[in-house]
Amino acid sequence: MNDMTEQRPVTDTAAQPVLPDAQTVTSVTHYTDRLFSFRVTRPASLRFRSGEFVMIGLMGDPDPRTGRQKPLLRAYSIASPSWDEELEFYSIKVEDGPLTSKLQHIAVGDQIILKPKPVGTLVHDALLPGKRLYFFSTGTGFAPFASLLREPETFENYDEVIVTHTCRDVAELTYGANLIADITSDEMMIELLGEENLAKIRYYPTTTREKSAKMGRITTLIESGELFTDLGVPPLDPATDRAMVCGSLAFNKDIAALLEAAGLHEGANSEPGEFVIEKAFVG
Ligand SMILES: Cc1cc2nc3c(=O)[nH]c(=O)nc-3n(C[C@H](O)[C@H](O)[C@H](O)COP(=O)(O)OP(=O)(O)OC[C@H]3O[C@@H](n4cnc5c(N)ncnc54)[C@H](O)[C@@H]3O)c2cc1C
Ligand SMILES: NC(=O)c1ccc[n+]([C@@H]2O[C@H](COP(=O)([O-])OP(=O)(O)OC[C@H]3O[C@@H](n4cnc5c(N)ncnc54)[C@H](OP(=O)(O)O)[C@@H]3O)[C@@H](O)[C@H]2O)c1
Repeated sequence: MNDMTEQRPVTDTAAQPVLPDAQTVTSVTHYTDRLFSFRVTRPASLRFRSGEFVMIGLMGDPDPRTGRQKPLLRAYSIASPSWDEELEFYSIKVEDGPLTSKLQHIAVGDQIILKPKPVGTLVHDALLPGKRLYFFSTGTGFAPFASLLREPETFENYDEVIVTHTCRDVAELTYGANLIADITSDEMMIELLGEENLAKIRYYPTTTREKSAKMGRITTLIESGELFTDLGVPPLDPATDRAMVCGSLAFNKDIAALLEAAGLHEGANSEPGEFVIEKAFVG
């Protein structure tokens, strides 16, 4: 936590539900003028697999004719792990976005709507066993991996967990960088995940517009082989490598083409494969 985070105990009055499927905001952290994260109370009945998403939102503006308000819902990856007693989300702020133009102003004690029906393909069940697990993400596509990186199962079946996160600017990497720094130094997380498991994480952040230690689209770094040289690992191999991908449609399409060219096949919950993909947003 830092001074960008607002956090205080939720009072009894704040916890009174006024929305359908209401949950109460327990902390909010802003990273840039386009990115923030927040935590909410977790419905007692909600079970999910780390990596899944749910629909969340707020009540929309009243209909000018009827005065009626309808819920305004959007898909959001749950960024917290399945064992966490609260739920965490990592969000974009779209200036004229119907939901996030409002959601970006939530404060501790406010309520959001959360439909407790988790779904998604970025789950361990959709991957065949392997040795090396890649998480390829851009922008808010890091969110499902924030969940999976805190899930003990992630480390059980792999020797290495390679996390790539590409953003335009350095500040947009902050949420992911902080999370990895936190889980590898926090005593509770070290005890839960195991020191030897945390040592399996290879974090590979890159930027494309602002200068940083590593620049370039991850697709370019895969094609050139630079990613593998930098990490000292062999090129992608369907016998050993598994991947989960989360970014824009264009990013997902380009990464999928590279993974398929290397001989990996896309999997699903019903038919596990060597890689799985989910959109970080539509458009
Ligand atoms: C499966 C799935 C999981 C998602 N998980 C998340 C998540 O964890 N965090 C999150 O912030 N969003 C996530 N989204 C996107 C989210 O559903 C909304 O689109 C987003 O909250 C913006 O809502 P809005 O109503 O303000 O604008 P919308 O009308 O939904 O979007 C307006 C435009 O903003 C851009 N945009 C929308 N979302 C993003 C984004 N995340 N990053 C960059 N540009 C974007 C697109 O160009 C889009 O056309 C997810 C979408 C899908 C399909
Ligand atoms: N990020 C900002 O500062 C900013 C500000 C205002 C508005 N927006 C708008 O918000 C929307 C989303 O922006 P975003 O930055 O969150 O997401 P984004 O445009 O998907 O870019 C996120 C990262 O992914 C990279 N990338 C994009 N397409 C790729 C592909 N096909 N293969 C490999 N890498 C790819 C980008 O590299 P490149 O830089 O090479 O594209 C960037 O580093 C866009 O419509 C954008 O115009 C963004």
